[in-house]
Amino acid sequence: MDVSLFLKKHKDILHLDDLSLGKDELTDFAFNFFKHRLFFYTPQNSVYIVEGVKGVVLYRENNKQVQLFIVEPNSVIPSHHHPDVDSYEMLLCGMEFNINNKIVLPLRFSRLTDKNNHPLGARYLLRVKPNDPHGGKSGPNGGAFLSIQCWLNGKIPTSVGENWVGETMGGIHQSKVLNK
Ligand SMILES: [Fe+2]
Repeated sequence: MDVSLFLKKHKDILHLDDLSLGKDELTDFAFNFFKHRLFFYTPQNSVYIVEGVKGVVLYRENNKQVQLFIVEPNSVIPSHHHPDVDSYEMLLCGMEFNINNKIVLPLRFSRLTDKNNHPLGARYLLRVKPNDPHGGKSGPNGGAFLSIQCWLNGKIPTSVGENWVGETMGGIHQSKVLNK
């Protein structure tokens, strides 16, 4: 697969090198997080474990945060949206992502590496706006992704798994959704 051609077709996928200031609040935050290598700031009670997904907040600053998610092998994240969260998602390994039920980052994309054997997925950000239905699944070895978030409408950040509209991952997850 020609990665550059593939990515150019998707206007919502951004290379880290193309991040710049002054576009919007979320992009400013992503720029500062990646370009200035902000220190980790993991608040108390920021570990989030539900069904086959484990998350931790690596950094939080007012209404913005970065969550790392680790997904058990062969797990399906059903299509959903987060009404109060604007985000960029970065595939680290072993994940497939879809928006509007269309696969935009296939599993084979997260397996691509450069000539130094570094994964290419960790250089791209997929924009997921508050009302964009999206989902994903992990491969046979499990998956991991980063979620860079700007919480809207005065909501205090918790986990995107709690600000959720759509099919949940199961009964435990359902009980944790706050905006039911
Ligand atoms: Fe989501």
